[in-house]
Amino acid sequence: MDTANKLASVATFQILKLPLGFIRVLEWLFAIFAFATCGGYTGQLRVSVDCMEKASSNLSIAIDFSYPFRLHQVSFEAPLCEEMRSERLFLSGDYSSSAEFFVTISVFAFLYSLMATVVYIFYHNKYCDNNRGPLIDFIVTVVFSFLWLVSSSAWAKALSDVKMATDPDEVQLLVSACKDQRNKCGSVQGPRWSGLNTSVVFGFLNFVLWAGNIWFVFKETGWHKGAVKQQGGPPEKQSCSFGQQAYNPSSFDQSGGYGAQGDQSPPSEYSQVGGSTLYPNPM
Ligand SMILES: *[C@@H]1O[C@H](CO)[C@@H](O)[C@H](O)[C@H]1NC(C)=O
Repeated sequence: MDTANKLASVATFQILKLPLGFIRVLEWLFAIFAFATCGGYTGQLRVSVDCMEKASSNLSIAIDFSYPFRLHQVSFEAPLCEEMRSERLFLSGDYSSSAEFFVTISVFAFLYSLMATVVYIFYHNKYCDNNRGPLIDFIVTVVFSFLWLVSSSAWAKALSDVKMATDPDEVQLLVSACKDQRNKCGSVQGPRWSGLNTSVVFGFLNFVLWAGNIWFVFKETGWHKGAVKQQGGPPEKQSCSFGQQAYNPSSFDQSGGYGAQGDQSPPSEYSQVGGSTLYPNPM
């Protein structure tokens, strides 16, 4: 049993070399990128209002905005080009629901994938026990894949609206003085979008990761193995790959797919060989 011998030398952290564990690590890294780039964003645009009456001009009106993009609360002062008077104006739109939804999903996905990584490494026997771990893991992974798709799409749409609402050429149109042809208005600088574009990319990357991981978690549930067995295929590995690696002898018996499946067949040659080869039998 070469595989069993090979697996015997596997250290705890080798679990991260399995697709499921490795993807989990990518998931929490990518989740951090997603919420950090979106939640940490601050942007600035600048417009100029060059009044006919030069003294009241302001050639660099700075407008700052940031997450969660409640643009209708972002105000700035623009000259009225009349006797040094000015007006207070507000940007338009409230994109906080999409932005906050996206960040919330990212944070929860981060917490879950981090927790899952810890469970895979330190609680693998409990994870495989009774098949409950893989089952919950499977359902949560499916739900998160869906939420990533929905929240990334919503956020991508909101971002395109935010870009429109903060375009200096559009913001100029809000300024009353600019409606008078004699005053000249211009855009000085638009906001930088690289951070927010990155957050959308990471949102969809996360969707791909989680959706891809559905398959690897599915394999742990043992349903896959059941199907193969019914087809009369060759004896499969145990459903829970983590149990297969059998870190400690006591976990070996209970963590296998056999009991968990309600399949009463005696342990196969594979598990016996595996069990006795890997560990000095404590009993
Ligand atoms: C122009 O507007 C900025 C705010 O965007 C303000 O800090 C500055 O004092 C204004 N300049 C003048 C000349 O009013």
